[in-house]
Amino acid sequence: MCTRSADRPASHQRIWLLATIVLLVVAAQTGIHAQGYPTRFEFGTPATEQDISAVAIAIPADGAGLPAGSGDYMKGKAVYETQCAACHGTDLMGVAGLPNMPAGTQLRLIGGRGTLASKNPVMTVESYWPHATTLFDYIRRAMPFAAPGSLSADETYAVSAYILTEAQIIDKSMVLDAKTLPLIEMPNRNGFVPDPRPEIFK
Ligand code: HEC
Repeated sequence: MCTRSADRPASHQRIWLLATIVLLVVAAQTGIHAQGYPTRFEFGTPATEQDISAVAIAIPADGAGLPAGSGDYMKGKAVYETQCAACHGTDLMGVAGLPNMPAGTQLRLIGGRGTLASKNPVMTVESYWPHATTLFDYIRRAMPFAAPGSLSADETYAVSAYILTEAQIIDKSMVLDAKTLPLIEMPNRNGFVPDPRPEIFK
């Protein structure tokens, strides 16, 4: 009994080692093609629609794919104060001297309206971003900085409502959800020009 249980892991390890070596040799041989670059890798399986939809979470300007849920200013204020203010400031104007940030950088979210064409443009969500749906999308994917993806859909709608209200873009009483968020007209909505190059945008 004792010897068998001691033997088993050892022989398993040998088999795995052998299997790994065989895999590496096969991968090395099939991966190298005439020009030195593989045209395709001989492993994996095609991603299904379901696989893709699980990771394709980008929300376009028109808000297609926004999740169910809703949030308002008051709930958003609570989210902001606990999860965002440390870096973006209690006044949403950013915090000076954060570690690992280039000197002079402040993670300002509001203000700067009308400065884009000036010598010192202040680019913020308020002054620069053309679509409110991008705010939801960005926060959901990237914030809070140390724990992206940790906010619920309700919290993300709510904190978006808080930022947009503080930026004086929407009214405090507005409830944001998949229907209302795309209707918001951002101040710089028409500040972008279409790029006509067909080779870039097919
Ligand atoms: C630990 C610090 C930190 C925390 C906490 C944090 N952020 Fe950020 N945030 C950043 C950094 C750094 C950037 C810039 C990232 C970049 O440019 O790649 C940023 C960028 C942003 C931007 C884009 C600003 C712009 O104009 O480009 C938004 C919007 C934002 N954060 C919202 C939030 C919200 C909402 C929360 C709370 C749920 C939050 N952040 C929490 C550090 C933080």
